[in-house]
Amino acid sequence: MTEGGAERLLVRGGSRLTGSVAVHTAKNAVLPLRAASLLSRGPVRLRAVPDLADVATMRALLGELGAEVREVAPGELAIRAADVADEAPYALVRRMRASLLVMGPLLARLGRVRAGLPGGCAIGGRPIDLHLKGFAALGAEVSLRGGYVEARAPGGLRGARIYLDYPSHTGTENLILAAALARGQTLIENAAEEPEVVDLAGFLNAMGARVSGAGTPVVRVDGVPELRGAEWTPIPDRIEAGTLLIAAALTRGEIELTGVVAQHLQAVVAKLRETGAEVWQEQGRVFLVARRRPAAVDVKTLPYPGFPNDLQPQMTALLATAEGIATVTETVFDNRLGHIDELRRMGASIRVEGRTALVTGVPRLSGAPVQASDLRAGAALVLAGLAAAGETEVHGRGHIERGYADLPGQLRSLGADIEAAPLAEAVRTLGGNA
Ligand code: EPZ
Repeated sequence: MTEGGAERLLVRGGSRLTGSVAVHTAKNAVLPLRAASLLSRGPVRLRAVPDLADVATMRALLGELGAEVREVAPGELAIRAADVADEAPYALVRRMRASLLVMGPLLARLGRVRAGLPGGCAIGGRPIDLHLKGFAALGAEVSLRGGYVEARAPGGLRGARIYLDYPSHTGTENLILAAALARGQTLIENAAEEPEVVDLAGFLNAMGARVSGAGTPVVRVDGVPELRGAEWTPIPDRIEAGTLLIAAALTRGEIELTGVVAQHLQAVVAKLRETGAEVWQEQGRVFLVARRRPAAVDVKTLPYPGFPNDLQPQMTALLATAEGIATVTETVFDNRLGHIDELRRMGASIRVEGRTALVTGVPRLSGAPVQASDLRAGAALVLAGLAAAGETEVHGRGHIERGYADLPGQLRSLGADIEAAPLAEAVRTLGGNA
């Protein structure tokens, strides 16, 4: 994970969000697509790639592995991986866990790979056993040495039947990537059904792979000897879209999102409707109008198509201002409640029991200096600040920039009062407040 970021965001609450804003393409789609580019010698072109810290980290990793990455037009990347190395250094994997997605392609293409083992992170312990068991099922010998994981399949990978104990999102992607060049057929059962998995399968098929069933619990991959280059535009970011819809609901706003796939937003839209917001959709656009204080609802995170854990902190911020008592249960990660102490500092009334937060809504939050512990927690605090009385200082802006291309800019275009401020000023202001 990146450092917390040397800057803060200043959010002055009270503005009602109104207007229309376009949604960027999805971070969590772009990362596996870029890993997939390592499977082919041919040139790959990715369009509308968002300008994000995690995307820059992936670019550094591809460069480290020997791929040539050029930005040929704004947001358009040309990648050529004529020759690739077999090691993903710990320094990059540590910064971004999704770096592990290069393992599948390198193992498939070179018959060997070595990658730094990621540790836990702010949202909990994050094992990779399902990725490794899958590689082993495909015929690789997997070992752990000196903080690195090594996988070797000198004779190449062979197709296999793999059952995932849990529908791991990047685990499913890593195994599809590995199986794309394996000999024979692979079946991945209890696979993740996330739209980003479907996008990856589409891109691989455009490269000449034979992947079917993506988006269902059983993905079938018929291995091919090699893949060619391809061009692709990633899917819109459903988490960015959900964050903006929740922001509008928090401020009793009225907004339109363009460039979205409404189907990917069903769980969050259903919950927002339950809180009393009106939400409707037209081709590629979603509209939300919130006229009154939200009603409390119960939310439980689940793998797709369930309610996404990447929107749990933001939804908790909304429910902190709802009428009544809501429960928010996090089932995907074991420690993704880091935003709750910070929301409390803003006047929220939340009690945590195990993995469930009991949220008693208050009519109004109040601005405070708060610290983002991770990307989505940071977004939740910004959203809380929009609805709070006075000024909220969100520290750890770097976390937010890992996964949102321009959240402050998007919110500002909808009427929010939000600006970045350097730390020096923050220190001065905090001193003044003390
Ligand atoms: C992806 O992470 C996303 N990251 C996450 O988004 C997202 O929160 C998560 O899926 C769930 O939707 C990317 O796509 C780059 P998992 P991933 O493997 O694949 C356990 C964000 O904020 N597990 O589905 O790492 C694991 O511990 C990020 O954008 C194992 O036990 O998530 C967790 O409890 C954060 N063994 C659960 O499965 C494994 O080998 C879900 O993890 C792998 C996972």
